[in-house]
Amino acid sequence: MVQPYKHEPFTDFSVEKEREGYLQALNTVEGYLGQDYDLVIGGERISTEDKIISINPANKEEIIGRVSKANKELAEKAMQAAVKAFQSWRKAKPEMRADVLFKAAAIIRRRKHEFSALLTKEAGKPWREADADTAEAIDFLEYYARQMLRIKDGVPVNSRPNEYNRYNYIPLGVGVIISPWNFPLAIMAGTTVAAIVSGNTVLLKPASTTPVVAAKFVEVMEEAGLPAGVLNFVPGSGAEVGDYLVDHKDTRFISFTGSRDVGLRIYERASKLNEGQIWLKRVIAEMGGKDTIVVDKEADLELAAQSIVASAFGFSGQKCSACSRAVVVEDVYDQVLNRVVELTNALTQGNPVDQNNYMGPVIDQAAFDKIMSYIEIGKEEGRLMAGGEGDSSTGFFIKPTVFADLDPEARLMKEEIFGPVVAFAKAKDFDEAIDIANNTEYGLTGAVITTNREHIQKAREDFHVGNLYFNRGCTGAIVGYQPFGGFNMSGTDSKAGGPDYLLLHMQAKTTSEMY
Ligand code: NAD
Ligand code: ALA
Repeated sequence: MVQPYKHEPFTDFSVEKEREGYLQALNTVEGYLGQDYDLVIGGERISTEDKIISINPANKEEIIGRVSKANKELAEKAMQAAVKAFQSWRKAKPEMRADVLFKAAAIIRRRKHEFSALLTKEAGKPWREADADTAEAIDFLEYYARQMLRIKDGVPVNSRPNEYNRYNYIPLGVGVIISPWNFPLAIMAGTTVAAIVSGNTVLLKPASTTPVVAAKFVEVMEEAGLPAGVLNFVPGSGAEVGDYLVDHKDTRFISFTGSRDVGLRIYERASKLNEGQIWLKRVIAEMGGKDTIVVDKEADLELAAQSIVASAFGFSGQKCSACSRAVVVEDVYDQVLNRVVELTNALTQGNPVDQNNYMGPVIDQAAFDKIMSYIEIGKEEGRLMAGGEGDSSTGFFIKPTVFADLDPEARLMKEEIFGPVVAFAKAKDFDEAIDIANNTEYGLTGAVITTNREHIQKAREDFHVGNLYFNRGCTGAIVGYQPFGGFNMSGTDSKAGGPDYLLLHMQAKTTSEMY
């Protein structure tokens, strides 16, 4: 019998054995830096001249790997492989599909520190953040496998005498999985395996900054027994391969996680009927955030400051769930702001291979430039309280930055920055704080720090975000415990790691037999 689901525990790095294990894993990863990785199409490995060069964002000189790059012809070949494999995979027993995920989870768990160390190198994730990313990937595998077993026989419906009605879920077809770099293992793996365990075949296009960890994950799925053609690996340019696959007549659904603008582009393109296409494409789109922590006057102010700092600067603020706005009731504004500045100034930053560095780099030059330009905007719009500087000479390092006294209409309060920048705004009371928190086109996560029960109830009703937390930070949703996904421009609220998620990759079929 399958054991009940429990999330993967985080590693306790105060234990020497774990620290040694991580250092050893960094050595293992260093041993394979710079290698070439192929496309995988219908089980065949294909090497191309044109490569994506993945580099370490903390040390631009270090090449993590060289990954073959698909073009339109290879994307077409992969599509045909996925179409063919769908004919058998859709009939593979759900138990067998789930077993592949269970085995993949076991393989990753055995090599947990190695996967995390690779994330440290390829994405610049500090140890704890990398460890959480790997744990989340394991959770997605364990959770979705169990969800498939739960729904495999459908849902009971009524039948009249001499009639037998059934209501079952069947897969959709070929899915295109387009994943981001910020959870390069967890989100890439989670979105891929949800589609696969539901009986679909997929083309995986990972983010171009983090393709090596995706290539390693594809190897794990092969080792776990996934048949050829079910998972086709096609890294490539978003504009070239992405558009081609989104537009393709054989694409049945697209599972996208990334920025608002790319999400909107995919949503629009997927709505157009192409020649030979006989269905409406389904789009699962999980997009950006402008997430807020609201601090009430009746609140544990130390908890508030700690939660703001951890949510704003964990993984350098590069989480869709990161706190980029703190809205504080005026009575306690200065106190919370000053404590946040104090905590921020005490944060350590540097190459994340060193466990003592709380913060590493941002992902690449484009991110560095964009965040630095928002810091310049912040200097005009608000009062710089901490940080405000960057250095991209060896890696892409930006100091954790705090701005105070922002107008709720300021750009820093409305636009996703996706870096280590948090903006403070003052509210005259709790009601106004919730109004300011809602004053964005996004609706992903939010948190409220308060001891006032009525205010908790008001926020439950009026704070319009997909994931709302009380008396804690706004990052760190756990698969199966806090299903994750947002409202409005944050996406289609697909709730990754939730009980309804697999159904987004399936369609219900009613059958009725007369006796
Ligand atoms: P991005 O939109 O730049 O890229 C995401 C993926 O889309 C990449 O694989 C990219 O190559 C691909 N892509 C780019 N252009 C494309 C096109 N024309 N057609 C098809 N695919 C294309 O996002 P990113 O920088 O990788 O990730 C950061 C963003 O992701 C942030 O906005 C963040 O908030 C969001 N995000 C959201 C969630 C969520 O669950 N809501 C989770 C993680 C990240
Ligand atoms: N699951 C991630 C978080 O909640 C995105 O921070």
